[in-house]
Amino acid sequence: MFELPWEEEGPAVPETKYGSRIYLGVLAEAETAGPTAARVYQDFVGRLRRAAPGVKDLRLELEEPAPRKEDPGVFECWATLKAVVPHDLTRDGARNHLDAWRAILRDTFQTTCHLNHGLVHHTSSRVEITRQVFPFEEEPQVEAAPAEEKPKEMIRVKVLLGGQEYEVEIPKDENLLDGVNDKGVDVKWDCKSGVCDTCQIKVLKGMENLSPVNDAEREMLGDKVDQGYRLCCQVIAHGPCEIAH
Ligand code: FES
Repeated sequence: MFELPWEEEGPAVPETKYGSRIYLGVLAEAETAGPTAARVYQDFVGRLRRAAPGVKDLRLELEEPAPRKEDPGVFECWATLKAVVPHDLTRDGARNHLDAWRAILRDTFQTTCHLNHGLVHHTSSRVEITRQVFPFEEEPQVEAAPAEEKPKEMIRVKVLLGGQEYEVEIPKDENLLDGVNDKGVDVKWDCKSGVCDTCQIKVLKGMENLSPVNDAEREMLGDKVDQGYRLCCQVIAHGPCEIAH
């Protein structure tokens, strides 16, 4: 059993303790699988701490690696991550702190696997992850649901992709990449964290309806942001637009 503790101060707001099961497939010799997984998970915890500085008592427990039956040379390395998550944790598109925590966990883990791709086993262009979030000492406080859920306002998005033109309706004020992908328009992505460039798009119309360019986009795209290029995974769509990918 390997343990990677992490202690830090959090803000004085209500909080919930969460545990997450995380799975990593590691390509390694039997005797190095544990240390390799520990290294990747350590990297993950460091990134997580930077991505969600308000989260405290991050604690990661790694189980002994086990060889995969169907895939000799690949070791399954399970870990349980425990954390105390403040209720003011936010994330674009998240309805509450639990949603935000899920998204941060997923994106940070994908980024970590992507950046450690020499060590982490891929089954496709996406890293294989199985994760479940569950409370481990108390029930999460469910935020009061609105008495009646209003139907979501939708906006029109036109996408030029591989010589084809698609026109879809996606929910207003939500992530543009998720919105078009949910409608079956396959804008490619890899990290969803603004660090890989895979989801690059050019905005042909409606830039004024999109969230402002953020630091990750500026860093990744440089001067191209002035020519209308964006990272689709970083964009919130507030109104109609037309994009090319
Ligand atoms: S998916 Fe990697 S930058 Fe958007």
